[in-house]
Amino acid sequence: MKNISNSEAADKLIFALDAAGYDEAVSWIDILSGHVGMFKVGFELFTAAGPKIIDYIKQKNQRVFLDLKFHDIPNTVARAAEAAAKMGVDMFNVHASGGSKMIRDTVKAVETLTEKDGLVKPVILAVTVLTSLNDVDLQEIGFAKNTNDQVLHLASLANAAGASGVVASAQDIVKLRSGLGNDFIIVTPGIRSSREPVKDDQKRTLSATEAVKLGADYIVVGRPIRQATDPLAACEQIVKEISEGMTTG
Ligand code: C5P
Repeated sequence: MKNISNSEAADKLIFALDAAGYDEAVSWIDILSGHVGMFKVGFELFTAAGPKIIDYIKQKNQRVFLDLKFHDIPNTVARAAEAAAKMGVDMFNVHASGGSKMIRDTVKAVETLTEKDGLVKPVILAVTVLTSLNDVDLQEIGFAKNTNDQVLHLASLANAAGASGVVASAQDIVKLRSGLGNDFIIVTPGIRSSREPVKDDQKRTLSATEAVKLGADYIVVGRPIRQATDPLAACEQIVKEISEGMTTG
């Protein structure tokens, strides 16, 4: 059996900082700094609070995943990615359906900039098919493949174009792992404790232990921590579950 330290397990936990504004986000960062591996800043918070929330997370010596799912012409995404790297984010994502050139140009721009300026090179993830879309939605958009095939297709495209990994639902972990190997990073949201009934809009959920056992490198957790009576205790329980997954995985 592997011996897993608490911090190795906590490193795998990405907290979804889905706060409405700066002050609320700051109070979560103060509570959870040192207890999670990364803070995920998405559209809502970044639009409301701007880069100063990234600065605050960096001041606390914590890691940031900027979840803005860039999708535009290659030049625009590459420039946005450089701006993200300059802010010091540790991870950000782009839509794989932006195409190979968009991903390749972005990876290259970030490599060139971070080497030139001695900055930390952020991990670049791709988003494949949003889990809010089903087979009928893909047909409507004009995609020929079903969601399962489209996820693997776009993940392979992103991998070939130089992305380091994907954000993927729990149900896709196994096929992505077997199709793309062990170095490809898989980040999985939709995590709920096996001990609690599901109370919100996540339909396909998995416990942290199961997700890590299946091969997720990181898990994203928001409401199970934010809505807990004791958020720090909930966070520590999830870290314990991650460590169980790492021990037995
Ligand atoms: O609160 P909860 O744990 O469901 O938070 C999940 C986070 O992961 C949210 O920030 C949400 O935007 C994100 N996410 C998701 N499902 C996806 C991709 C991202 O829930 N398929």
